[in-house]
Amino acid sequence: MTQQILLKNAERGGLDIRAYRKSDGYQALEKVLRQYKPLDVIDEIKRSGLRGRGGAGFPTGKKWEMVATHREAERYLVCNAGEHEPGTYKDRRLLRLNPHQLLEGVAIGTYAVGAKETHIFINGAFTDEIALIRQAVEDARKEGFLGQNILGTGFSCDVQIFLGPDTYVAGEETAMLEAMQGRDAKPKHKPPFYPTVYGLYGKPTVVNNVETLSNVPHILFHGADWFRSIGTKTCPGTMLFSIGGDINRPGVYELPLGIPVRRLIEDYGGGIKNGRRLKVVYPGGPSHAFLTLKDIDVPMDFDSLKAIGSGLGSAGVIVLDETNCMVEQTMEFCNFFREESCGQCPPCKMGTRYLHQLLEKIEAGHGKMEDLQSLQQLSGFVKGRGDCTVITGAAVAVECSLRHFPDEFESHIKEHRCTVKVAS
Ligand SMILES: Cc1cc2nc3c(=O)[nH]c(=O)nc-3n(C[C@H](O)[C@H](O)[C@H](O)COP(=O)(O)O)c2cc1C
Repeated sequence: MTQQILLKNAERGGLDIRAYRKSDGYQALEKVLRQYKPLDVIDEIKRSGLRGRGGAGFPTGKKWEMVATHREAERYLVCNAGEHEPGTYKDRRLLRLNPHQLLEGVAIGTYAVGAKETHIFINGAFTDEIALIRQAVEDARKEGFLGQNILGTGFSCDVQIFLGPDTYVAGEETAMLEAMQGRDAKPKHKPPFYPTVYGLYGKPTVVNNVETLSNVPHILFHGADWFRSIGTKTCPGTMLFSIGGDINRPGVYELPLGIPVRRLIEDYGGGIKNGRRLKVVYPGGPSHAFLTLKDIDVPMDFDSLKAIGSGLGSAGVIVLDETNCMVEQTMEFCNFFREESCGQCPPCKMGTRYLHQLLEKIEAGHGKMEDLQSLQQLSGFVKGRGDCTVITGAAVAVECSLRHFPDEFESHIKEHRCTVKVAS
């Protein structure tokens, strides 16, 4: 079942340009530049069904088409390597193991949309990955795969590396573009500020995740039909699942989209640690509703998870065993959202703070029954009321825990202590 595309051939310590070229590297770029018109590239990506791996699962070909066909001739392409969500570390893996695969995807994307400038926005805390990608850019320039008049085709593409803030919100695309223009990394309201229309310097901009762009050379090399033969009908390809928490073998696993949660945990994660039982799984990081045992056979893809009220996000899978206290866990996630809130939207600034305060009080054994009602009301009130998903993530975390584990909240209040952790 393991299907290695993005991690294939990636050796320990990373693929340098020689090794990358030996594994057919940069051949897709050459093929595209010699044989394809930009809109043909977009057609192939559309036909492949590739969807963004940065969280929303938006169709990549459609995004490229919106920018490429925009009447504004000045366009940009930005690769998003922010990656600050708890439990997700797959983009770092790709940057480390195969930086040229990303650069090839970036160059093909630049050609397809006719971008004037190409940037990689990378979390400034990723010092090793920054050094690696810089080296890769230099090597690709030397070998003629980046820079002016690439492979004598007249196409030019230079990649600039932008070191971004090490915050969660800076990875949100509009906040990222703000940071790149010297302003605070704070999201802008959509609509109207969709990057495809109003992006870098107010111009149409493609923003794509590292993993999304890393898929591009393979699609152009092997063809859209090959890509469609992997994964599910509406979510083709593989996904890099970062699996962590109470499992025996945490790590990043590249598997076809649609693999059931159970197989991910048991076959790849090595099962729950110490022979314990599963309590919940967060399939898409802290921002999406968790799954319980009854959902254990749901396919891990954008549509199947959405259909049951959750989401895949960027596939940061967090597995918790039966000894975890859901009040404490929810409090920790709300603390993350509180700390990461950029503070510009009052419902988020205040909401994350109050939700965390209430949970802290209940967890410490000082809660009252009416606090449960306050939690419910507050999360219902603030949900969806921000320029990004931070406050919604906090509200969903609270609602989901209250719905599935009301007894844990009540027992903390009645017994003035955590009964879950004591009992295990
Ligand atoms: C709070 C927040 C943080 C985000 N962080 C990242 C990130 O670190 N990397 C990323 O690619 N997308 C992140 N996103 C999603 C981006 O806004 C955007 O949808 C994505 O980069 C688009 O690329 P894709 O279409 O290839 O998925 C984040 C979104 C939100 C709301």
